[in-house]
Amino acid sequence: MPNKHNLKKSANTMSNNDRKPLISGNWKMHMNHFEAIQMVQKLFYDLPLPVYDRIDVSIHPPFTSLRSLQTVFEVDHMPIALGAQNCHNEDSGAFTGEISPLMLAKLNVAYVIVGHSERRQLLGETDRQVNAKVHAVLKHGMTPIVCVGETLEQRQAGSAATVVSTQITNSLKEVTAAQVSDLIIAYEPVWAIGTGKTATPADAQAMCAHIRSQMESKWGNTAAQSLRIQYGGSVKASNIAELMVKNDIDGTLVGGASLKVEDFAPIVNHFS
Ligand code: 13P
Repeated sequence: MPNKHNLKKSANTMSNNDRKPLISGNWKMHMNHFEAIQMVQKLFYDLPLPVYDRIDVSIHPPFTSLRSLQTVFEVDHMPIALGAQNCHNEDSGAFTGEISPLMLAKLNVAYVIVGHSERRQLLGETDRQVNAKVHAVLKHGMTPIVCVGETLEQRQAGSAATVVSTQITNSLKEVTAAQVSDLIIAYEPVWAIGTGKTATPADAQAMCAHIRSQMESKWGNTAAQSLRIQYGGSVKASNIAELMVKNDIDGTLVGGASLKVEDFAPIVNHFS
């Protein structure tokens, strides 16, 4: 499955040419399971198979579609990874309405988005909870996609880098260097999500480089060069190329443009 990095080069000379890009579609609260099946079937038939040798693709539907998509991916041999949008940090218990990471692992979920800004902002999710979820996801052999990003006010106040650094420090407490190597960090500036405003490729690269250098100072060069950093926020076919040429951007977390085949297929096709 995912996370096959080309580690032939020594870690300190790696670039995003050496890290396999990950393009993830975060469907948020969209599509029932019939629509989900239709969407992935169309997507699969629209994309040339060799593209999956060059990149990893993950789809993160609502919980209600996970089982249906798992079946379709397996029966039709689609090399698309199944992703979830959230989970609880406990394996089981009296947590009405929550989903356990163990349940996700049983569905062959490969990636779990953790700490999305919509959960942080709308549902009050804290770094502490994000940290507990990161450990829960790792414990069950899945890969967390840990979301970080500043608000517009924080960017305008010049504190974007500090905000992101604090989110990383607090969300990744007690994570080992070996775990960091396979981790995904998604840099999603809050002001760019669903607004049509993308961070400039230079700004996105600057923050992703800042993140990698912070990771390096804590977990070492090998782990920092191996982990993948996605950019998210109004990614579309028209801006994927300018983002992906940047050295520290290893993929994208796509919201709105992942909901229609005609928008998402050209993003993935950029790599064919
Ligand atoms: P948009 O691509 O709709 O801006 O959403 C980004 C996002 O939140 C992905 O997780």
